Parts: sequence; C-alpha cells; structure tokens
Amino acid sequence: MVVGCTRRLAMVERGILGCFILCLSLASVCAVRGTLSSIKDLKGIEFGHTSPRHGLMLLHWLANNIYIDNNGNMRLNFNPTRGDYGFHFYGNSPPSLPFLLPESGIYYSVGNMNSIGSMTALPHYVTRRFYNSRGPENNRDRVILRVREDGSNQFIADEAYVTQHYPPNENRGSAYDPDNTYRVNVSLLRQIQSLPTINLNDIPRIYNVEINHNSLQELENIWGHTPGLALLLAIVLYFTHPKTLFIKDQALRLTSQPQSDMGDKDNALIKLGVKTTNRGKARIIWSGIPKRLLDQGVMVMLYKSNNSDSKSELDRSSVGGKASGSYNTSVPLNPGLQVRLHKEVKSWWNYLGFGSPTGEEIWRGSEFHDANQEIPVDINGHDTSLQLFVKDGKACARLYVKKSFTAWKKTFNNSWVGFYSSEGTLDYNTWQWAVKFSEEKGSHQADIPGYDVYVYKSSMTMSPGVQVRFMLEKAGGEKVRTPPWERLVQW
Ligand SMILES: *[C@@H]1O[C@H](CO)[C@@H](O)[C@H](O)[C@H]1NC(C)=O
Ligand SMILES: *[C@@H]1O[C@H](CO)[C@@H](O)[C@H](O)[C@H]1NC(C)=O
Ligand SMILES: *[C@@H]1O[C@H](CO)[C@@H](O)[C@H](O)[C@H]1NC(C)=O
Repeated sequence: MVVGCTRRLAMVERGILGCFILCLSLASVCAVRGTLSSIKDLKGIEFGHTSPRHGLMLLHWLANNIYIDNNGNMRLNFNPTRGDYGFHFYGNSPPSLPFLLPESGIYYSVGNMNSIGSMTALPHYVTRRFYNSRGPENNRDRVILRVREDGSNQFIADEAYVTQHYPPNENRGSAYDPDNTYRVNVSLLRQIQSLPTINLNDIPRIYNVEINHNSLQELENIWGHTPGLALLLAIVLYFTHPKTLFIKDQALRLTSQPQSDMGDKDNALIKLGVKTTNRGKARIIWSGIPKRLLDQGVMVMLYKSNNSDSKSELDRSSVGGKASGSYNTSVPLNPGLQVRLHKEVKSWWNYLGFGSPTGEEIWRGSEFHDANQEIPVDINGHDTSLQLFVKDGKACARLYVKKSFTAWKKTFNNSWVGFYSSEGTLDYNTWQWAVKFSEEKGSHQADIPGYDVYVYKSSMTMSPGVQVRFMLEKAGGEKVRTPPWERLVQW
C-alpha cells in the first residue's frame, strides 16, 4: 500500500524535489491509499463494511457486470457514458484520483442513491439498505471506473476504484476522501466472480477465515437471489468481528437496518415490489412477511416516491394474513412508485370509514424504475440506442442519440419505432417516426453529456410483454428490439 503519499506531497510541493515527486505522482497511483488485490484486502478498510453502507453490494454488482479480458481490462456490459445504472461523469482530474490525460480515459462514478433512486437501474440488492435506513451513512460508498471506448459501442475500464464521501458531519465538503480511496486490482473482482462456485471447504485456506455455516445460511436467506453475495458478506463479517460467534441474530443485525435491533431482525426477509397489471396500473407484490407481523395485521401501501410523507399514500391493501401475494391497484404506473409495509391500525373509527389508519412503517421496497431496470439497447452502426419505459401507465420509447451523430435526422428520415404487445407478434399496436420524437427535458437523461435524448409517449397501455422495435425503413428493416417488459423480476 502507498500510505500517506498525499500528505508527504503537500509538504515538499514547493521545492524542486517537490515538483519532481509531483510529476511522478501524477503518473502513478500516488493520490490513492493503496491497492486491493484480494478479498483479504477488504480487511481493515472502511468501504462498505457496516450496515447500512452499500459498497460491498456495488463491488459485487460490478464484478458481475463485466468481463475481464486477457489483458486484465474490464469489458463493461453497459455504457457508463449514457448514464446506465446511474453512472455519471467524474472528469479526468478529481482531487482524490490520479490525473488523467484526456486520451487515457475519463472517470465515471456510480452508487449515489439520493434523489436518483427511480432513475438508476441498479438492482434491489444494491439499493435495499438505502431505502431501509435513515441518515447519511447509507449513501457514502462509490465505485469509480476509468473508462474508454473501444469503437463499436464497447466500453472498457482499465482501472476501478472504491471510495467514499467524508462523513457529512465533518464539514469537509462533498469530495471523495483520498485516505479512503483504493484502486481495485481485477484479481479482487475475479475472486468475487468465483464465489458462487467456490468449495466452502477451501475458504479457510484461501481467505483465512472460519465461516459459520448457520450464519452463512441466514445471509443466504436474505441475499440468496444474488449468487456469491452472502459468502462475500460472511467473509467480510468475519474480518470485522472475528471473535464473535456468528449466530442468526448477528448475521441479520449486520445486514439489515440498524433500528431492527429491537427484536424484529427477520424484517430483512421481507420483499416488496411494483409490477405491472395488464392495464398499465401498478401491481403490488410482497413476500417473506414473518408470522409475527401477519398475526398483528399488516398492510401494503403504495406511495408516489421514497420522499413522500406517510400521509400521502396512493393505494393500500391488507395482506390478508398471507406471507406472499399481490394486489392490483388502480394507480397508473409511473417512475418512483414505492411499496411500504405498515402495521394495520384496527379501531372502531376505521371500521366506520373515517381517517387514515396508518400504523408504524416496517419496511420499504425500491422505487420503481421507469424502464424496469433495463438499460437501452444499441442500434448498431448508428450511435443511437433505444429504451422502453413507462409514464402514466402508457408505453413510451426513448432514443439516445450521440451528439456526434449530427446527421441522425437525415439518416433516420424514414425510420420508425413500433410498439408491440409481445415478442411473438408481427403486428404493431401503434408507431411513430423517429424524427417526430420530442427532446427530453428536465430529467436525469436530459443532462447526460454526449447524448441528446428524445422521447415518445404512445397511446398504448403498458402491460407485461410489451416491446418496442426500431425499423430503419418505411417497409420495415428491423434494427433492434427491446427486451419484453417485465422480463426481469423486480423486487
Ligand atoms: C494485480 O495483481 C496481480 C496479482 O496479485 C499482479 O500480478 C498485477 O501486477 C496487479 N496489477 C496491477 C495493475 O496492480
Ligand atoms: C392482477 O393483474 C395481473 C397481471 O395483469 C393479472 O394476471 C391478475 O389476474 C390480476 N388480478 C386480479 C384479481 O384482477
Ligand atoms: C423525409 O424527408 C422528406 C424530404 O426530404 C420529407 O418530405 C419527409 O416528410 C421526411 N420524412 C419524415 C418521416 O419526416
């Protein structure tokens, strides 16, 4: 590890020697604290360690969305320059990272949960701690990639970093903390990739930890949908508390919300989500509600967004004693919608139909992402991509046109986007010319540097299976189609 380099630099900066060291350091890793090459190196660093921090989930997500080539470069399954998964431009000379010449790439950062919840397509396992905790600790961790484009829409990162914001109460600004910024060697990411298939008996030898199988099982109950994540958490948990005997309570406490220490640790097993009815309305789904809560009576409630206060619910239903189930609301599907679980308040007042009987909040699902967590699909050879999304329950399409593609209106003069009810059908339900799409304004997409974004809201009601296809010519010539709506299970 290169420790204390930044400080040493500051002291000698004014001398000739300082200049020499400065120049050297600009080309090296001097500004960062060190390199993480193994899961073992996660020991003793702050990043992602304690609940509700989300850094380990971000790192796990990264490892599972890249392909590491023979040169040790990370080939990305997404396009950070287009804002996929909430990635945003971080320039080439941020204070906590090595300076980059423009041709060596640009830094992109991911992991900010605040106010863009409904706009990032990050899966629920990355965002769930954020939605179920309060206070600044739940939004400090970030992953940064140094990205360059390898022609044909293939993005490559040759370096990755983990970092974090200063604690907000220290008044040290919104920059990242260089003393807690580490370069990530791809060998760490390879280890994370291999966790789902590792033999558990090899863990003590490789990582020098003793995994307690009961606590691993508890972690699997919560994070099991994401192969390898429970094991990563179990290993890091051991680093943090090597001497404690891992029992159920500990495993749960360290992975669920902090306030759940009060005897309701099994809340971490609850899942709440928004799906689509075949009429474009929000459909609430839930599972994993513990018997203790079912006995008391709980209800699922739909809110406009994570920021809505508890009085402004849009719809609600009792779970009717069922640990898992669904409820079709009459609320048109829109980005940001969120399901929360509340205790039911049973009083004579409510039976008479007065008031808003909202009991204590227990758990929150993720905000609904307008494209159902799908990133855009490339229209190959045309510097443009296509995305299906929903607004007011209607199927909508979005075109991301690279700013450098100035002739797009001419090229797409006869191109159109068709809306189809399912993957199998040949007949569109409705359609629009590409050049008649209107420019997106006032949203996260409208601010993506390098792209102009155009949208069209169709008259077609959104429902599972809906798909849009891009046709280059009047008579067809399909270039690309989106995945059918709700291909992914959203929790
Ligand atoms: C990454 O780690 C491997 C093995 O631990 C090492 O051989 C390699 O040089 C490292 N790469 C970088 C860029 O530090
Ligand atoms: C709720 O919506 C789903 C999906 O459209 C549908 O399959 C189901 O039959 C609906 N349930 C009710 C009770 O209307
Ligand atoms: C294509 O261009 C021609 C003229 O060049 C114009 O008349 C026509 O309306 C354009 N088509 C569309 C769909 O805009």
